Amino acid sequence: MKVLVAERIAEEGINILQGFAEVDIKISISRKEILDIIEDYHAIIVRSVTKVDKELIEKAKNLKVIGRAGTGIDNVDVREATRRGIVVVNSPQGNSNAAAELAIGLIFSVCRNIPQAYMSVKNEDFRRNRFKGTELNGKTVGVVGLGRIGSIVASRIKCFDTRVIAYDPYISDDRYRKMGVEKCSDLDELLQQADIITLHMPKLNDTVNMIGEREIDLMKKGVRIINCARGGLIDEEALYKAIKDGKVAAAGLDVLEREPNYEAKPGEQEFSHPLLELDNVIFTPHLGASTFEAQYNVGVMIAEQTVSALKGEIVSAVNMPSLHVKDLGEIKRYLDLAEKMGKIYFQTEKHPVEKIEIFYSGKVSEQETKVTTLAFLKGFLEPIMSGENVNYVNAEMLVRARGIEVVESKSSHSERFTSLITATVTTKERKLTISGTVFGNDEMRLVDFFGYNVDFEPTTPFALAVQNIDQPGIIGQIGTILGIARVNIASMRLSRNKKGEKAVAFLGVDSEVSENVLQHIRNVDGILKATMIKF
Ligand code: NAD
Ligand code: MLT
Repeated sequence: MKVLVAERIAEEGINILQGFAEVDIKISISRKEILDIIEDYHAIIVRSVTKVDKELIEKAKNLKVIGRAGTGIDNVDVREATRRGIVVVNSPQGNSNAAAELAIGLIFSVCRNIPQAYMSVKNEDFRRNRFKGTELNGKTVGVVGLGRIGSIVASRIKCFDTRVIAYDPYISDDRYRKMGVEKCSDLDELLQQADIITLHMPKLNDTVNMIGEREIDLMKKGVRIINCARGGLIDEEALYKAIKDGKVAAAGLDVLEREPNYEAKPGEQEFSHPLLELDNVIFTPHLGASTFEAQYNVGVMIAEQTVSALKGEIVSAVNMPSLHVKDLGEIKRYLDLAEKMGKIYFQTEKHPVEKIEIFYSGKVSEQETKVTTLAFLKGFLEPIMSGENVNYVNAEMLVRARGIEVVESKSSHSERFTSLITATVTTKERKLTISGTVFGNDEMRLVDFFGYNVDFEPTTPFALAVQNIDQPGIIGQIGTILGIARVNIASMRLSRNKKGEKAVAFLGVDSEVSENVLQHIRNVDGILKATMIKF
C-alpha cells in the first residue's frame, strides 16, 4: 500500500503510517504533480490547502482513503469520493481547543490592538496613545455556529463578564440553556446586538458569504469581527468597505477566501490582499490548528483512521454512518449475515428491483442498524458489479442510483427468534423475502428463503439453491451429479410448504459448481431451478 502525505502532519502520525504502508512525504507538491502521480497511491493525507476535487479523484484510480488531518472537509469532494467508494476520514475533535483559543486570542488582539502595538515597539515607536483599546467586560459577544469550537469559545469568553449570545439553528434549546448562552432566533438578531462577532460555522453552500453588505449594515457601529473558521464565510469586499467606512472597527482573521502559500519563503510569496493592507485587520496564517497538542492529536488520529480504513476495517468516516468501536464487536456477526443475505437475490433472480425493505426485529433492533443495512446493500450489488468497487461507503448511493428505494425499519418485538433480519425485495411482479438470524455468539442461519422456512448455515464459500417438485429421488440425483464433478457437499437443508408441491433445497458446497454441472442438475426431472450462490 502507498500513502501520499501532501501536507505537514505530526511525526508521530507519519510513524503510524510507515508501520503499515510505504509513505511518500511531498509537502508543497504542485497541483500538476499530484495529478500526475496520484494514480500510484491508495491513500492521500491533506490538511486544508490541497483540493481533493473531482478531477483529482478521477485520476486517483487506486485511491481507497482520503485522510483530512483536521476539521473542515470543504476542500474534499466528498460526494465524488463516496460515488467511487473512497473512505473520507477526518479528525475533527483534535484541534477544536486550539482553534477556540486562537479565536479568543484574536478577540483580545482586536480589542486591545496587541499585534499593532507590538509592531510599533519593534519599530522603536512607543507612543501608546495610538493603541487605546476597549474592554471585553460588559460587552456582548455573538457566536455564530455553536458546535465544537463555538461552544468552547462561548464557555471561555463568558468568564470575562461578557453577555454571550449565539445563533445556530441546528442546536437544541436545552444545549443553549446548559451552556448559559442566549439563543438568537435568527442571524439578524445576533448581528444587531453583538459588539464582537465570532464565526464558527462550516463552509457550506448556504454559509458562503453569509456575512455580506446587508448583514454588516445591521451590525452596531464599531463592531469587531473574528473569522477563525473558513475563508468565504464573509464577503471580503463588503468587509473591506465597512472597515474603511468605520462601520467595522476591526477584524481578526485566520482564514481568507484565497489564502497564501503557507510553505513559500518571503521572496517566493506571490500574495496580496486588500484587507491585509488595513491597519485594523489582523491576519494570522491559518494558525487555528497549529499547536503542538492539536497537531499531535490530528496527526495520530488521521494516521490511525487511514491505516484502519486501508485494512478494510470499519472506521468512523465522514461518508459512512458513525459507529462506535465498542459497538463493532456486537454487530460484526450481523454485518456478515446481512452481507450474505444481500448476495442471494441477484444470484438467484434477474428481475429489476424497485424497493428493498430491511426490517430488524427483536434484540438486533437495539443496535446500530444503519451499517448492517449497508452490509446488505453491499452484498446485494456485488454479484452484478464485478470489477467495480462496492463498499460500505458507496453501496447505498449505488443502489439508489439504480432507482431502488431503500427503507429500514425496526421493532423490538420478534416472535420466533431473539433477533431477526428480514429483507423484502420488491420487483414489478412480486415481493421476495429472505430472513436470517444469529444463534449464540456467531451461528448464522438463513431461516426464510423466498417464503420457505429453512435452517441453513451459510458458512461454506458457495451454496446451491434448488427449487424442485417435492418427489422422491431428486436429492439423490443432485448428490450423484455433484459427486461425479468432485464437488463436496458440506451441509444440506430441505424445505417444503406442502407435501408433493414445490420445495427448496440448500446445499452448502466447498467449491464452485460450474455452469455445466448446474445444467446437468437442471435437467433432472422435477427440478425447476438450480443456481449457485457465491457467499
Ligand atoms: P462543528 O461542526 O462542530 O460546528 C459547526 C456548527 O455550525 C454546528 O453546530 C452547526 O450546527 C453550525 N452551523 C451550520 N450551519 C450554520 C448556519 N447556517 N448558521 C449558524 N450555524 C451553523 O465544527 P467545528 O469543529 O466547531 O468547526 C467550526 C469551523 O472551524 C469550521 O468551519 C472548521 O472548518 C473551522 N476550523 C478552522 C480551524 C483553523 O485552523 N482556523 C481549525 C479547526 C476548524
Ligand atoms: C481545520 O479545519 O482543521 C483547519 O483548517 C486546520 C488545518 O487544516 O490546518
